[in-house]
Amino acid sequence: MTKYEEVFQKSLKQPEIFWAEAAEGISWYKKWDRVLDDDNPPFYRWFEGAEMNTCYNALDRHVENGRGDQSAIIYDSPVTDTIQIITYNQLRDKVAVFAGVLQAQGVVKGDTVIIYMPMIPEAAVAMLACARLGAIHSVVFGGFAAHELAIRVDHAQPKVIVTASGAIEGGKILAYKPLVDKALDMADHQPQKCIVFQRFFVTAELQEGRDLDWQQEVDRTAPVDCVPVKATDPLYILYTSGTTGMPKGVMRDNGGHAVALHWSMKNVYNVDAGDVFWSASDVGWVVGHSYIVYGPLLRGCTSVFYEGKPIGTPDPGAFWRVISQHGVKVLFTAPTAFRAIKKEDPDGQYCKKYDLSSFEALYLAGERLDPDTYHWAGDLLKCPVIDHWWQTETGWAIVANCRGIEQFSVKPGSPTKAVPGYDVRILDEHGKELGPNEEGNVVIKLPLPPGTLASLWRDDEKFIKSYMSNFQGYYETSDGGYIDEDGYVFVMGRMDDVINIAGHRLSTGAMEEVVSNHSDVAECAVFGTHDQLKGEIPVGLIVLKSGVNRDFEEVKKELVQMVREQIGPIACYRESALTARLPKTRSGKILRGTMRSIANGKEYRMPSTIDDPAILDEIKEVLSGMGLPK
Ligand code: COA
Ligand code: AMP
Repeated sequence: MTKYEEVFQKSLKQPEIFWAEAAEGISWYKKWDRVLDDDNPPFYRWFEGAEMNTCYNALDRHVENGRGDQSAIIYDSPVTDTIQIITYNQLRDKVAVFAGVLQAQGVVKGDTVIIYMPMIPEAAVAMLACARLGAIHSVVFGGFAAHELAIRVDHAQPKVIVTASGAIEGGKILAYKPLVDKALDMADHQPQKCIVFQRFFVTAELQEGRDLDWQQEVDRTAPVDCVPVKATDPLYILYTSGTTGMPKGVMRDNGGHAVALHWSMKNVYNVDAGDVFWSASDVGWVVGHSYIVYGPLLRGCTSVFYEGKPIGTPDPGAFWRVISQHGVKVLFTAPTAFRAIKKEDPDGQYCKKYDLSSFEALYLAGERLDPDTYHWAGDLLKCPVIDHWWQTETGWAIVANCRGIEQFSVKPGSPTKAVPGYDVRILDEHGKELGPNEEGNVVIKLPLPPGTLASLWRDDEKFIKSYMSNFQGYYETSDGGYIDEDGYVFVMGRMDDVINIAGHRLSTGAMEEVVSNHSDVAECAVFGTHDQLKGEIPVGLIVLKSGVNRDFEEVKKELVQMVREQIGPIACYRESALTARLPKTRSGKILRGTMRSIANGKEYRMPSTIDDPAILDEIKEVLSGMGLPK
């Protein structure tokens, strides 16, 4: 048996022993009564009865163990020309004081706090301060529009919102506070306070009585200590796109999350305390939660906090500059970032200018890693390029080449094998298990390992309906794929209305809801099409109401604006085309999957339930007018 097989088999056959051993990496105020509470499937609870504090594990204990002077965060912001090193001592102090600020506003264990901030260390300070108090944070990505923020405010019902005056996105200054004000105008729920971190390049107006200045509050507040919480108490809610306009509030607990992330740093990424780890993502996404903030800090690593882009800040050498300047050992980003660099610097000239001797491996996730990008990155960096597959829901990798255990040879197009803890299977639509190389639904046999979603916030029913009901006893990932004869998993793409644009997860269903609200639109279908840079981008096919004979170009512009305003610029919705009708089943369901296949030049089967097959020819013509398939 190889080392990987040994570890993997133990994780599935003796999960309680396996995870109890991993839990030794975490400090507990009180150990668990049971490692796994499986009394109420599909709700599984890890480390039932245990008490701990995530912030204590991420900061205080490292200070107590002599790491106080080590860098915890290196904030590297080419857009503001700033480099700031924050040691574990300093970060612990900042977090303890900001926890005091929140506490002074009445935030206590179990309260929710929304954080809407750019990539500045204060975002991590706010997250960890919530964890310190046992409050539940919900970070909202800055690229989401006011309307999306309002939806999250109403659902999460925060006592406090923490934000910043603005961000610099590439070359543009974006003011965040007006978006927060607008969101609060739209929302029914009103937080008691809004704490604003003022940045030097844009000043937010503060609303008397509601808004507080971050620095003023910090200056007059004393630090507070960690509050013990149950391992099974929620740490955070992270909203992620589902198939409709209402995002899913993925809820993660404290104990299992700390154990899993701490374990994954060494076993999946092969980094340990003292190493410099860089996840070039954003705190608003799950990658940012797990691998900019919690994972590296729980393990005692140094985490690079990068406020910039792979290109344009200032050039396609930005990543290599950061790696060499800070001695980064492992970089984690999305394939899109590499495609962007490759487009601007195909021969990798910029890379040659830097000393990358500290660098050991590149990890990519968030979307399918196309073989071209895989080979280009490997040839350029001459290091292992590790594809790994996971989701907001799981919070850490499901399938990965676990270099900390044993490095496998790679089959391009596959993130390799299941990570210990995950029993990955392929089922057909009736729930029958499929054999090697047969494509179907990728599912995970329950229980999921620690650190994965405990439920959806305030919606156990939706949790069961979304993930646990189509295949009894399994978690449905909504990705399609297959496992080959050697156990390599191939993930082929989503089977639902979720798309990945530049590694960002968005819902075409949500875009469709916005587009169909246009007063001239009778009905529409929005689906993802292949894009060379961003992986996927959305297109909309629009049927106008009868009697509307406006210039369609005008309507198109309005649709773009509506999606930008209601979902956000990251939706990248630009392309719409006019069609007389949409293909439907006899019961009236729009055949989006079939149109998506046509648009992407994939083979498709004529659906037996189609109402009028001739419409597909019309759709082909419309798509070809849009240059699809590419
Ligand atoms: N706040 C506000 N707006 C944001 C934002 C944020 N945090 N992030 C992106 N946006 C805006 C951009 O300004 C842009 O707006 P525009 O249409 O007005 O120009 C829009 O959203 C689209 O942004 P993006 O998809 O980032 O496109 P880009 O052309 O600016 O950059 C890449 C292209 C490939 C460089 C960029 O997408 C990238 O770095 N991708 C990697 C993504 C990544 O790391 N994902 C993490 C998951 S692991
Ligand atoms: P998110 O929840 O934003 O992390 O997006 C999760 C989705 O991204 C998954 O369901 C996949 O469809 C896709 N994804 C993430 N990583 C990979 C990968 N390595 N290979 C293929 N698809 C991926």
